[in-house]
Amino acid sequence: MESMGNLIRTHFCNDLGKDNIGEEVVLMGWVLRRRDHGGVIFIDLRDRKGLTQIVFNPAINPEVHAKAHQLRSEWVLAVRGRVTARPGDMANPKLATGEIEVLIDELRILNTSETPPFPLDEDVEVSETLRLQYRYLDLRRPEMAANMVMRHKAVQTIRNYLNDHGFLDIETPMLTRSTPEGARDYLVPSRVNAGKFYALPQSPQLFKQLLMIAGMDRYYQIVKCFRDEDLRADRQPEFTQIDMELSFVDEEQIITVTEGMIVALFKSTLNLDLTPPFGRMTYDQAINRFGTDRPDTRFAMELVNLTQIASSCGFKVFREIADTGGTVRAINAKGCATLSRKDLDDLTEYVAQFGAKGLAWVKMKAGGEWQSPIAKFFTDEERATIAGELDAVEGDLLFFGADKPAVVLQVLSELRLELARRLGLVKKDVFNFTWVTDFPLVEYDEKEKRFQALHHPFTAPREADIAKLDTDPAAVYSRAYDLVLNGTEIGGGSIRIHQRAMQSKVLQVLGIGEEEAQDKFGFLLRALELGAPPHGGLAFGLDRLMMIITGSDSIRSVIAFPKTQKATCPLTEAPASVARKQLTELYLRPDWKE
Ligand code: AMO
Ligand code: AMP
Repeated sequence: MESMGNLIRTHFCNDLGKDNIGEEVVLMGWVLRRRDHGGVIFIDLRDRKGLTQIVFNPAINPEVHAKAHQLRSEWVLAVRGRVTARPGDMANPKLATGEIEVLIDELRILNTSETPPFPLDEDVEVSETLRLQYRYLDLRRPEMAANMVMRHKAVQTIRNYLNDHGFLDIETPMLTRSTPEGARDYLVPSRVNAGKFYALPQSPQLFKQLLMIAGMDRYYQIVKCFRDEDLRADRQPEFTQIDMELSFVDEEQIITVTEGMIVALFKSTLNLDLTPPFGRMTYDQAINRFGTDRPDTRFAMELVNLTQIASSCGFKVFREIADTGGTVRAINAKGCATLSRKDLDDLTEYVAQFGAKGLAWVKMKAGGEWQSPIAKFFTDEERATIAGELDAVEGDLLFFGADKPAVVLQVLSELRLELARRLGLVKKDVFNFTWVTDFPLVEYDEKEKRFQALHHPFTAPREADIAKLDTDPAAVYSRAYDLVLNGTEIGGGSIRIHQRAMQSKVLQVLGIGEEEAQDKFGFLLRALELGAPPHGGLAFGLDRLMMIITGSDSIRSVIAFPKTQKATCPLTEAPASVARKQLTELYLRPDWKE
């Protein structure tokens, strides 16, 4: 192994072009691939920024050429040589440095490498566990490096934008008390306070409100949040929020300032010119039209309510459901009557996981004829009405869901997405933003037999609905809003309660009595008594934003060291067992069993 000696890097591996021909340069990097061509050795040298082809020619320097024979994948080199044009037909227009190569006169081998556990130069399928175990190798791959660069760019843009708009970057504690964002907490036992625990923050929600009460006026933080919940492609146990809070503002000002930030973000990362204001939809509209509060509006296939028609139809299943508080809804998959029986069976099986008890379908034939297992239960007139409601014409395929509203909405919403995936309706380069507003303040939790906050307990109710807090809490709307991008909730927030009495009232509705409220958030309640300004804010999921911006399928692709679906880290093997002594020091019983 050699040292870098007196070699000092002059360029990165994507820097060199025709303009550099004739220059002597020094490059440092990794061997991506090696080709031996009748005595001349070609190496693609790689660094974070790209590739340069370097050439070892016995005619230039026989000793260096001989030394280059031993080079293998991922060895680390320092090289000095002269830039030359590639022979005419050897130029590679796909590569930034494709017109040149560097003829090497000095080679220093800075380190060797064992054969990597997976090749880094091709798009071979590698299991994600292996990629995560060797994440430092995975990150050497250009797509992954590009994701890290993009994320860095995004963060810089956001910081600049928020700084320009008067936001202060203020850190909040990681060792704190539980914040009720609806997930389980990660707990940290205290050694110096026997039997007591910190919670890692699910978000800085209460601290950012306290910062408004402290007169900071505008706060932001790009901050880790921790939630012990079931993981999915767009959920990690620790993830990053762009967290913001503003004083003396209403919804409109918050929406305007954040739209500006998103515009700046898409300009700097994708060079896209978004045109605010973004679309808006109330929660009720979103649910009725798309079955979900995070609608993917890149394609239509909207839900149509057929409950009324169903209540008088001849299909007993539908009629009974319609008559007992259920709902019957349908979607029209345009031009899909060509789907096979097997496709339909697959889709029926697909929706069963969301609780669908069946999936009635209709293939629209010429003259308004129905090809369908349920055709016989409907009169000509009913069939015409249903076709009219769904805008159905020959060649279309209709799907029906009948059940309790929550089930039907989820089933059709998921079916809509699955159909769009199968039919290729979701375009990755289209970015549809929708603000969803006017959420209900609370929803009834059948299991717990009490109301739960839809956003969090600090969200303000709509002024016009305040009287209903006592009489009909389920009918109260809140001042919360979410920003949805292509069917993913990328951010959410609300105007907060800033008056002590109102906060107690809402906690009461949520079944949190004065004593429990004092115990859990006494510090916030007290602060609300000491001159809290009107305030509100929101938080974006940075990882989710980057997932969409980079066109990735999972947020793991935009996080340097993510966790698996089981919340483990294959690289460090966290979480891990700890010594018995450490447990006892923390007053935890090592022999604890459920
Ligand atoms: P909320 O809980 O909606 O709001 O979170 C804000 C945004 O964070 C992202 N997000 C996640 N991303 C990855 N993995 C997760 N487990 C995860 N959970 C949430 C989502 C979401 O929109 N304190 C409030 C914000 C506020 O009211 O200002 C909050 O945390 O993109
Ligand atoms: P059946 O008469 O039970 O064989 O049902 C006839 C058709 O209606 C089948 O295609 C079922 O998949 C469908 N179906 C049954 N129950 C429901 C339901 N609750 N929602 C939607 N479709 C249903």
